[in-house]
Amino acid sequence: MTEPHKKKYDNAAMAVLTGIRDMFKTREVCGELKETDRLDGKTVFIDGASSGLGFAIAVDVAKRGGRVIMACRSGLPEKGEKVKRLSGNSDVHMLHVDLSDISSIRHLVSGITKLSTHPDIYILNAGIVPKKSRRTPQGLEEMFMVNYFAKFVFIRMLMEHRLILDPGSLILGKPNQHPEPSIQKPASTLDPRPSRIIFVTSESHRNPENYNWDGFGKYKDYGIKQSMELYGYYKLLLVTFARELSRRLNSDSKTITSVFAMCPGPVNSNIAREAPKIFQPLLKLIFAIFFKSPKEAAKPVVYLAASPDVEGKSFDYLFLMSRQEIDKKAADPENGERLWELSEKLLKI
Ligand SMILES: NC(=O)c1ccc[n+]([C@@H]2O[C@H](COP(=O)([O-])OP(=O)(O)OC[C@H]3O[C@@H](n4cnc5c(N)ncnc54)[C@H](OP(=O)(O)O)[C@@H]3O)[C@@H](O)[C@H]2O)c1
Repeated sequence: MTEPHKKKYDNAAMAVLTGIRDMFKTREVCGELKETDRLDGKTVFIDGASSGLGFAIAVDVAKRGGRVIMACRSGLPEKGEKVKRLSGNSDVHMLHVDLSDISSIRHLVSGITKLSTHPDIYILNAGIVPKKSRRTPQGLEEMFMVNYFAKFVFIRMLMEHRLILDPGSLILGKPNQHPEPSIQKPASTLDPRPSRIIFVTSESHRNPENYNWDGFGKYKDYGIKQSMELYGYYKLLLVTFARELSRRLNSDSKTITSVFAMCPGPVNSNIAREAPKIFQPLLKLIFAIFFKSPKEAAKPVVYLAASPDVEGKSFDYLFLMSRQEIDKKAADPENGERLWELSEKLLKI
């Protein structure tokens, strides 16, 4: 049974303490990432790969022989060159994206369609904890966009481009919903489709008591005090979306695309970059002493990408290397459907 996490992530200090405490708890480990879990011949897409966890995932994937596509807002091309150096794999490529801007996501998807091999595995990792609300080019709020809505927009665009197929279009050769007529082509065995989609989420998704459906997508001002609470809320939306996506991409009898979500636990990354300057030295110290290195924290993500243990599963959620139930609200199909419909509506505005 999963322990309730309510109100453990209401502010940054509580979130840090909860993270440290959770790391020292013993949990049943679900499996092990082995040296033999290779990714040769696979193309792996990773967003937010310029820093922290995403960068470490890129290095590990490259070491395992995967072709790496790093989708980044910054660090082009030097972060890609660094991944090549650290891994000894030169098959590393970078695409630019600003996930706070829908037109930039569209440009990214267009870049993916032009790749010589389409991704087999998508790792959607980018996330932020901003110090205050900020408006995106489309008038949405930045943390809502980067931590949740960008993932929905990206996946929907991949579906429109038939880079992800739902069971209906795969079996019947039908287009996915809301197709762009110019890019439709009949489904065939050559149609590219990912085998796995992995969302980096957080245990803080258990913190919110309810969804705020009426306020969905509406811009709202907030400051540093509310940032952590909203971070947990957008991670709840993300886990709800991941679960719903797994229902939509797979039939009851057959897994076509595995959808996984996970929480890496506390990571010594740049996630607290917007914390007040006065706390930065203390946070850096706490992160360095108690939090996992990005290399260590990347292991459960790479396990979900590379391990044969999870082959054929339609959905799974890991906290560190331990299998957990997701929050009940996120698992409820009614909530999944409602979120999908609201997100679809927002995308059309
Ligand atoms: N660190 C933790 O303790 C912890 C715990 C649980 C879950 N997580 C999750 O782990 C994931 C990775 O975070 P991290 O800890 O590795 O933090 P990080 O070091 O700050 O990395 C975040 C990544 O997201 C990218 N990003 C942010 N805004 C973007 C945008 N608008 N467009 C494109 N990319 C953008 C950043 O790019 P730039 O370098 O260009 O800014 C960076 O590559 C996040 O989803 C986070 O919520 C972290």
